[in-house]
Amino acid sequence: MRSGLERKAPGDGRRKEMTITTRNQDFREARRAKKDEFYTSLSDIELELEHYTGHFKDKVVYCNCDDPRASNFFNYFATNFEKLGLKKLITTCYRSRDADRFGRGDSDQAVMLEYTGDKNGNLVPDIEEIGIVPMTGDGDFRSAESVELLKQADIVVTNPPFSLFRPYVAQLIEHQKQFLIIGNMNALTYTEIFPLFQNDQMWYGPSIRSGDREFRVPDDYPITAAGSRVDEDGTKYVRVKGVRWFTNLDYPGRHEDLELEMTYRPEAYPTYANFNAIEVSKTMNIPVDYDGPMGVPITFLDKYNSGQFDILGSSKTLGRPMSEVAKKGTYVPGGPRFYLPNGDGTYRRMYDRIVIRNKQP
Ligand SMILES: C[S@@+](CC[C@H](N)C(=O)[O-])C[C@H]1O[C@@H](n2cnc3c(N)ncnc32)[C@H](O)[C@@H]1O
Repeated sequence: MRSGLERKAPGDGRRKEMTITTRNQDFREARRAKKDEFYTSLSDIELELEHYTGHFKDKVVYCNCDDPRASNFFNYFATNFEKLGLKKLITTCYRSRDADRFGRGDSDQAVMLEYTGDKNGNLVPDIEEIGIVPMTGDGDFRSAESVELLKQADIVVTNPPFSLFRPYVAQLIEHQKQFLIIGNMNALTYTEIFPLFQNDQMWYGPSIRSGDREFRVPDDYPITAAGSRVDEDGTKYVRVKGVRWFTNLDYPGRHEDLELEMTYRPEAYPTYANFNAIEVSKTMNIPVDYDGPMGVPITFLDKYNSGQFDILGSSKTLGRPMSEVAKKGTYVPGGPRFYLPNGDGTYRRMYDRIVIRNKQP
């Protein structure tokens, strides 16, 4: 179906239809954006940023999904502006949707802020030094206004809307920006994201490796999930699993070799039925002496050092269709995955696997 925005409006009726469709689209966008309202804690930001302090000297940092009145990304960079040696901090938000927490109405118009550091010598970003100004549009990171700001930036740092992670990353790559952003670890299996890991254009940041992370959510967020809480001021928080930092900023830890203790034994490492690689069910069990392709869980990327291993691909793209390999009824069908023989003529379907090869076995 064509959207109202694409339609021509030759007569009154069509024009009305266009307005309604456009409004519906706006509404859907607004509802989608609302589901993306998770605010990152200052301590999570501090824990990650401490690995990159040398990267920020004389740099323009852009936080493009951040209401300066609500975002701890703004808070962190404004407070550490002089310590990091920043040149400029720009933050923009989407539709001022968090503004009601700060005494203003919800608005389609976004606000932006440019901060160039402390002026009065107290090393604190005072209210008169933080010039919040309205934007012309809604602050969508893809809007021409936001893209102009992106062009000025050296490093983009934020927690972007997860529902728009693919176009968000595509834009960063298109504009060749350095970035440090939060996302869900499963995003690495996306066909647009995986090649970035494979080509060493993106990797996980070091501070989150397992467990879940707590995010503040809006007051009207339904608190049902286990691990969510409301503090004494009524502020709501939820815990989210699988969170990772995604970056192309270098840090020393990602060049450290993973220590391997196991040695290859054919009976311990079966070969897939639909791809010529051995199954390694846990990263720590990677055999030190095997030089062929190995399938490993996606959590391997928490330990990945591109100097030690090559990433050859993933089960999403490498596995042959099981219909070409085995009789119908002997395996559970589904999207592309690797299968292991059970030994009785049937096959079991594995979780997503990354295929790697040891560079120096
Ligand atoms: C996961 S929240 C994180 C907010 C903030 N960056 C933080 O970490 O506290 C994602 C933010 O992106 C905003 N957003 C949603 N759609 C957007 C868009 N198209 N362009 C820019 N920001 C958007 C949402 O309003 C939301 O505040």
